[in-house]
Amino acid sequence: MDKLVINGGSELKGSIRVSGAKNAALPILSAVILADGKFKISEAPELVDIATMLKLLAELGISSKRDGKTVTLNSKFDPEKIEAPYDLVKTMRASVLTLGPLLARKGKARVSLPGGCAIGERPVDLHLKALEAMGAEIKVEHGYVEAVCKRLKGAEITFDIVTVTGTENIMMAATLADGETVLRNAAQEPEVVDLARFLKKMGADIQGEGTKEIRIKGMKSLTNADYIVMPDRIEAGTFLCCVAAAGGDVEVTNVPVQEMRATLDKLIEAGLEINKLNDTTLRVKRTKPLSATDITTLPYPGFPTDMQAQFMAVMVCADGVSVATETIFENRFMHVAELKRMGADIMLKDKSCIIKGVKSLMGAPVMASDLRASASLVIAALMAEGETEVSRLYHLDRGYEKFVDKLSGIGANLKRVKE
Ligand code: EPZ
Repeated sequence: MDKLVINGGSELKGSIRVSGAKNAALPILSAVILADGKFKISEAPELVDIATMLKLLAELGISSKRDGKTVTLNSKFDPEKIEAPYDLVKTMRASVLTLGPLLARKGKARVSLPGGCAIGERPVDLHLKALEAMGAEIKVEHGYVEAVCKRLKGAEITFDIVTVTGTENIMMAATLADGETVLRNAAQEPEVVDLARFLKKMGADIQGEGTKEIRIKGMKSLTNADYIVMPDRIEAGTFLCCVAAAGGDVEVTNVPVQEMRATLDKLIEAGLEINKLNDTTLRVKRTKPLSATDITTLPYPGFPTDMQAQFMAVMVCADGVSVATETIFENRFMHVAELKRMGADIMLKDKSCIIKGVKSLMGAPVMASDLRASASLVIAALMAEGETEVSRLYHLDRGYEKFVDKLSGIGANLKRVKE
């Protein structure tokens, strides 16, 4: 396994480009199951999770080839290829996104249950309940979801909890169902909207994406289409947190500014200087110490849970006391113990953390536990005195394309070494 060796203290300068959004590319690639023919998906980030999804699609009869940021796929209908195997699903829970499209297109699906991960149990009960409401017969046996349905029927579904992949799974399934499906308490995340845009290019009839109520009129069939995946608002937010922590003056390009209001507002409230040079470029400067700022994670358009760990790392050396409250996942504070080993003063209290700003952090060997926690440890290391080693880098490789190259490109002192 690899680790990162980071020496803190260098200010960041230069320009850094945001890649395509992992959490938009994953459902978009899965939607390819819904039609035959050639698809060209551009700005598909080169990440472990994307490679896993392409392996999974190959098991389902869809071949693919990557050429830089573009993935070309060839989807051929094969009624026998309906299984998403455990050895792939266990490495990426987003594999559950193949369930809806398989059921809609082939009338059956056998998808391994994802199992939990570091940040929580992460059940898929709401996905299954919604598919049953559309007429699917669902059995859960030997760790697999076995679903059968000749043709799904449109239904009115209200999600008990806002679920991003739940909304995406059912929206995809509904595109080929008989009749209209109405999703209420739907997720409003920009990645859901990006998926809807792609499905509409494939000929789907969808209204209301980006609101809490989405209406989908089922079609007999969909067609292949090309698409450019939206930029990654979490990667962009992570870069802004790097500048907030290390200081400096950086231009960030290919930013989905409109979709990042909650993150930008909190960083500005903390004292980061953020100027919009155009619709997709920000100039970010940190010229003074930051002030303590509270966050509470919420479904979009609230502050994203995927930014909680990174923002907390920035608050560790801010002036004053901040409170970070996590309302989406039950165990998304795995980074706290590691930050405390670097000298952070953080107290856990139920769903919140109280962060008392300290003068400085000390470099230390730390361990990543999940994707965003690993980013928060890198952010802390950039402002720590001395050397930090971040191990278990496979977490980082799942969600950040060329992270070391990009950060080194703006002056961060970090390198990847074999453990
Ligand atoms: C998506 O996960 C993202 N992943 C996550 O990003 C993100 O943290 C999360 O949405 C919240 O924004 C992808 O899009 C691939 P949920 P998802 O269903 O869809 C509970 C990252 O860092 N729930 O919105 O799995 C669930 O346990 C990842 O890139 C049920 O109880 O999250 C959680 O507490 C991490 N039953 C809450 O709802 C269900 O059937 C929200 O989960 C589904 C969800």
